[in-house]
Amino acid sequence: MNELKMFGMPIQFCEESQKLVPANDNIHYEDYSRKYSKGMFGLLADATYNIEDNPYYDFYKAIVEDDTKGIFQSTDLRYDSTVIIEGTAGGEFKKTAGHFHMPIPGQSVSYPELYQVIKGTALFVMQKVDDYRKEDGSMQVQDVILTKVEAGESVVIPPDYGHCTINIGAETMVFVNLVSCHSTNYYDSVKRHAGMCCYAFRTPDGGFRIEKNPRYDFACEPRLTTPTDSPVCGLEKNVPVYRSFLQDPKKYAYLNDPAPAVEAMFSLLKTL
Ligand SMILES: [Fe+2]
Repeated sequence: MNELKMFGMPIQFCEESQKLVPANDNIHYEDYSRKYSKGMFGLLADATYNIEDNPYYDFYKAIVEDDTKGIFQSTDLRYDSTVIIEGTAGGEFKKTAGHFHMPIPGQSVSYPELYQVIKGTALFVMQKVDDYRKEDGSMQVQDVILTKVEAGESVVIPPDYGHCTINIGAETMVFVNLVSCHSTNYYDSVKRHAGMCCYAFRTPDGGFRIEKNPRYDFACEPRLTTPTDSPVCGLEKNVPVYRSFLQDPKKYAYLNDPAPAVEAMFSLLKTL
């Protein structure tokens, strides 16, 4: 068992089962599910990939310690975790399905989302398109940001950016997210385009290479950014976001009301 210090609460990772194991009875989660490769058909670069039982990722919804439940309820935020199993399918690194967030009621923008990597190495793909609910023809990519995030580092997905997370490391990767309880996901358009606008493939030396998804219409080239600390967004390298949140929950109010933090979010995503 490996202690996951960045989790902020006593949770261990079991290499054998590839599962999160709470270290005491005060830790609970609302739901758990595992996704296999069959559930990723239609989202992979290799449309001919037909192995159905390759484990992809586990999702643990709304993880709380008994004594922190009230803080989450009063702030309308949720702390979830995703575990992406190590490996590839058809040479493409394992990833989450990818989605957009629906708009905030009464506003023209969607909810942002804060992610922190707990173990391993992730590549976050963030894409802004002309119409995330387009039903005919290709979505036009107006901005695509790729951020490599190591354990202890964080990234904030700005409003209106579709996103997925790819495990580009040589080990199972664990990450957490802090998001509004009111945010709902929209998957259909990403599915109709066979995934997000960029795929990551493993190279012979263990690195990764990016390939653009030809089903999208690109008005820009992918750009790379690196994770940065941000007092406005409550990001500090190697400090568990869960602990920072408990210390000062108001700091994360922007996840429900993003306007005051939008400038800070984009300043985190400057091109390298
Ligand atoms: Fe999301």
